[in-house]
Amino acid sequence: MSATFAVTNPATGSELQAVPDAGPADARAAIDRAVQAFAPWKARTAFDRANVLQAWRGLMLRDEEIIARLMTQEMGKPIAESRGEVRYAAAFVEWFAEEGKRAYGEIIPSHVAGKRLLAMRQPVGPVYAVTPWNFPAAMVTRKVAPALAAGCTVVLKPAEQSPLTALHLEALWQQAGGPADAFQVLTTSDPAGVSEPFFADARVRKLTFTGSTEVGKRLYAEAARTMKRVSLELGGHAPFLVFADADVPAAVLQVMASKFRNAGQTCVCANRIYVHASIHDEFSARLADAVRALRVGDPLRDDTQVGPLVDRAGLDKVTAHVADAVAKGARVVVGGGPRDGLYFEPTVLADVTDGMRILKEETFGPVAPVVMFRDDAEVVAAANATPYGLAAYLWTRDLGRGFRVAEALDYGIVGVNDGLPSTPHAPFGGVKDSGIGREGGKWGLEEYLDVKYISIALP
Ligand code: SIN
Repeated sequence: MSATFAVTNPATGSELQAVPDAGPADARAAIDRAVQAFAPWKARTAFDRANVLQAWRGLMLRDEEIIARLMTQEMGKPIAESRGEVRYAAAFVEWFAEEGKRAYGEIIPSHVAGKRLLAMRQPVGPVYAVTPWNFPAAMVTRKVAPALAAGCTVVLKPAEQSPLTALHLEALWQQAGGPADAFQVLTTSDPAGVSEPFFADARVRKLTFTGSTEVGKRLYAEAARTMKRVSLELGGHAPFLVFADADVPAAVLQVMASKFRNAGQTCVCANRIYVHASIHDEFSARLADAVRALRVGDPLRDDTQVGPLVDRAGLDKVTAHVADAVAKGARVVVGGGPRDGLYFEPTVLADVTDGMRILKEETFGPVAPVVMFRDDAEVVAAANATPYGLAAYLWTRDLGRGFRVAEALDYGIVGVNDGLPSTPHAPFGGVKDSGIGREGGKWGLEEYLDVKYISIALP
């Protein structure tokens, strides 16, 4: 592979490094290698695979600073968050190394005396993984660690914006003693061209994708051609409901953590903040103060809290959402516009109403739109009035209301008084247009296992 493409730093616009630009022929070669590596990797015991995975995790933690700097430079995440992400990424590897040992089967009571019925779990086979730029390390390990722990092999295509972290993780895998063909990274500027051989090849048994709903739907259709298993973690449009009895300072702290993490570029961040009329002014004032105090700047500085957006398309979308809201009557309380380069000011919008794009589409930027509500049933209906169903949040001191509303929300993840529910051992994933399948915990391992039923007639 001689062609390359450049990776640029969104904070400075400068070129960081050129990486291999794979094409369809490279994809076919990678598939052949992944297929050949599958049988020997599957044949190793889960305990043996766990040892390799644990060694990989150790190297990630050893290289925490190197990986964090790569990530910050290639996609603009503040360095303190990047360090946290390396630890988060390593925690997926640790969890799945252990969980791979618990891929238990079952004995099923037989309907006749002379038979024994059993169900066992086996790895699905070679996997094609496609990961996004917003979590260049954790979204890799959230997919690759369970796949490898289950006994699958993986070819990973990272996002064009952030391939450097993935390449470093691949190098560490080999240093850890992992077979090179069991986990391969294919960097490319032609995602469609590289993906096509995977969809055409029936030997690739699974597609796992994190990214937009639009692309996810296309890949889902493509994967059907060779009837692959699929896991799709797609877009979100998270409502954040603050009820009249909420602990307002705590809710503000958590909305800050949820909304401004990664400059608002997460699928689970609060996108629509509904606040009860009785606490609306207090909540909005506290939120505005907290947002004003955010330190925006060079993401490599330890004290930076908000860095640049990943690229021009991301910045244009955020700018368009704010302009649309303002044109339709929203009030800018803090921020409101782009700064130099790819930066957007952390923003609070008030008087946000239905009909504004920001209440319908995922913004993926540091903008907090606040909507006032009066009626609990109406706000739950508004929260559910979206094709998305990834994460939702609610704030109340009433446990009964907390349970009832959590159960009524059509979402895969609900944070009750918790703005940061993600953790490696819990199920992460959505319903409706937010996707199919779960990552994390025992559910994340199941995505890479098929159930085989064996019926034995005793002689
Ligand atoms: C995401 O935005 O896709 C992942 C965020 C998380 O793991 O919390």
